[in-house]
Formats: sequence, C-alpha cells, structure tokens
Amino acid sequence: MEKNLVLYYSKTGSNRFLAEKIGEKLGCGVVEVKPRFNSFLYIALSTAFNRGFGVKGLDIDLNDYSRLIICSPIWFGKVLSPISDLISKHKAVISRVYFASCCGSSDDKKDEKFGYSSTHNQLKELLGEKLINFEAFPIGLVIPQDKLNDDKAMMNTRLSEDTINSSVEKRLDNFIKTL
Ligand SMILES: Cc1cc2nc3c(=O)[nH]c(=O)nc-3n(C[C@H](O)[C@H](O)[C@H](O)COP(=O)(O)O)c2cc1C
Repeated sequence: MEKNLVLYYSKTGSNRFLAEKIGEKLGCGVVEVKPRFNSFLYIALSTAFNRGFGVKGLDIDLNDYSRLIICSPIWFGKVLSPISDLISKHKAVISRVYFASCCGSSDDKKDEKFGYSSTHNQLKELLGEKLINFEAFPIGLVIPQDKLNDDKAMMNTRLSEDTINSSVEKRLDNFIKTL
C-alpha cells in the first residue's frame, strides 16, 4: 500500500493551507520544512541565487514514504530554497514527488519569465523521473475578476478556508486523482 506524506514550506500561509487540505483529503501526515534561517531576506537571496543555507532535520524518515506531496510558493520563477535544499539533501531516498504550488503566476502567464513553467522545469532538473506531477494553484483563482490586475490584491490575498472556491476545489480533486 502507498504511504503518503505532505511536506510544505509557506511564508504567508497559502501553501500551508494547501498542504493541510491535501493531507486531509489523503488522510496522511503533513510536515513543515524548516529552513536553518527563516528570515525573508535569507530565503529571498538563497532562492534567487540558488545557494541555500540548508534545512533542519525532519523528525520522520522519508524512507518510510512511497509518495511525497510537496507544497511551496514560487519566488522569482523558482521553488523556494528550503524545498530545493530538502530535495538535494534527501534525493537518494525520495521515490516519487507530486508538487503543488499556490503561486502568483496565472495559467495564461505560466510561460513568462516568472511564471510557473520555469519552476516546473527546475523541479524536473532536480528530480528527473521522480517528479510525477506538477500542479499550480494560482492565487488569481480566488480573486474577483475585477481585481485580477490589481497587484495589491494579488499580493495580499491568501488561499484559506475563507477564500477557497469551486475552481480551486476542482483543481485539487484533479490533482488528488493523479496520485
Ligand atoms: C518575493 C516574492 C517573489 C515572488 N515571485 C513570484 C514569482 O516569480 N512567480 C509567482 O508565480 N509568484 C511569485 N510570488 C507570489 C507567491 O508565490 C505567492 O504569493 C504565494 O501564494 C505565497 O505562498 P505562501 O502564502 O504559502 O507563502 C512572489 C512572492 C514574493 C513575496
């Protein structure tokens, strides 16, 4: 039988919410990835320059899990350094990864410089065939149509119990079906 584990990093809560939702639906554990230095500046610089400062040890053994579901924001078109550090550190024992991101990039801008396609490619490079699925949950899915071009609304809106809607639920159910 498959053993699932959800791992996440989140700065402002949206990816924590996404991770907990996935964990609820799968009935599995949800574990936060903790960087050694969790300041905005460290995470931003290490993500931008691909030079992570490492992550704290996990209290669980990844060998025990056949499927990892990883949730993380995207910054500068990249997966955040705590997640790339985690992958580099544990790659040998990771079997299959399903990646989900609540990000700023919309589906129609996914191929732009900071769109989620570049993060997808980065993860393919990091994980090779171990990456089974990648799904984005653009924050625009929970923003009213007339605020979609409002940068402030984009930056201040979080995915949460108050904002989740049928578009996100549908995407989530489709993501779960791929597991
Ligand atoms: C410094 C910074 C850079 C960002 N860069 C991107 C980006 O390149 N592409 C993108 O899709 N979203 C980008 N975002 C938006 C975040 O991915 C989005 O707000 C995400 O939902 C935050 O997740 P969290 O609440 O779990 O921390 C950026 C946000 C910040 C703060």
